[in-house]
Amino acid sequence: MPPDQRKPLASSRRRFLGQALTAAGTAIAAPKLLNNVEARETTQTAPDLSSPIQGEAQVTLTINGKAHTVMIEPRVTLLDVLRERLRLTGTKKGCDHGQCGACTVLVEGERVYSCLLLAIMQEGKQIMTVEGLARGEQLHPVQAAFIENDGFQCGYCTPGQICASVALLNEVQRGATSVVTPDLTHPPKLADISAVEIRERLSGNLCRCSAYNGIVAAVQQVAGQTPPPPDALVLIREAAEVET
Ligand code: FES
Ligand code: FES
Repeated sequence: MPPDQRKPLASSRRRFLGQALTAAGTAIAAPKLLNNVEARETTQTAPDLSSPIQGEAQVTLTINGKAHTVMIEPRVTLLDVLRERLRLTGTKKGCDHGQCGACTVLVEGERVYSCLLLAIMQEGKQIMTVEGLARGEQLHPVQAAFIENDGFQCGYCTPGQICASVALLNEVQRGATSVVTPDLTHPPKLADISAVEIRERLSGNLCRCSAYNGIVAAVQQVAGQTPPPPDALVLIREAAEVET
């Protein structure tokens, strides 16, 4: 090989050896550096969590009939206060972008996405989460209907679906219409609201397990209608018929 072609190789080998030695030197020095960091950390005083942090404001939120006072930054969402500060983890975080409905709660009786609301703006309002629906051991009728009609599988979307269903039933009772209401001058009543209307009115709540049939049946049951039997019961019945 001509000498002029060997030069770059020799030069790159020198560079490689240089880099390797530098890395080895760093590795040898690393424990010492770490020791220095640890020593510095142990001499630092722990932060005082009881004192307010700059930029935080005191907010009192009324949730499920109980007042909760928290110090929060103005940019914190209601969802994060519920879950991270008050440990009301029934309300779920799905997309955190107002697209899935997992975080649905009721504010002043209206369903809202709590991931899109600033907590600081909810002071003085009545907030209801899924934890506030039952009366002691007695489930809310919508909660009981979800169980009876197989309205869930993994259950992650279920608190949001239940809160949305409670609001839906109230909306129908007060004569609210939807984009699929056939005659806007005659809003549907609970007794005759169609499955199509229920699906449309719950379209802001997604279920990745696709438990939609059971969810609609649960709403129909609470509305006083006779829902179709749960899918699981249909399958069991069909299997029994095949065996006989
Ligand atoms: S978490 Fe709020 S809409 Fe998805
Ligand atoms: S039950 Fe699993 S996402 Fe709805």
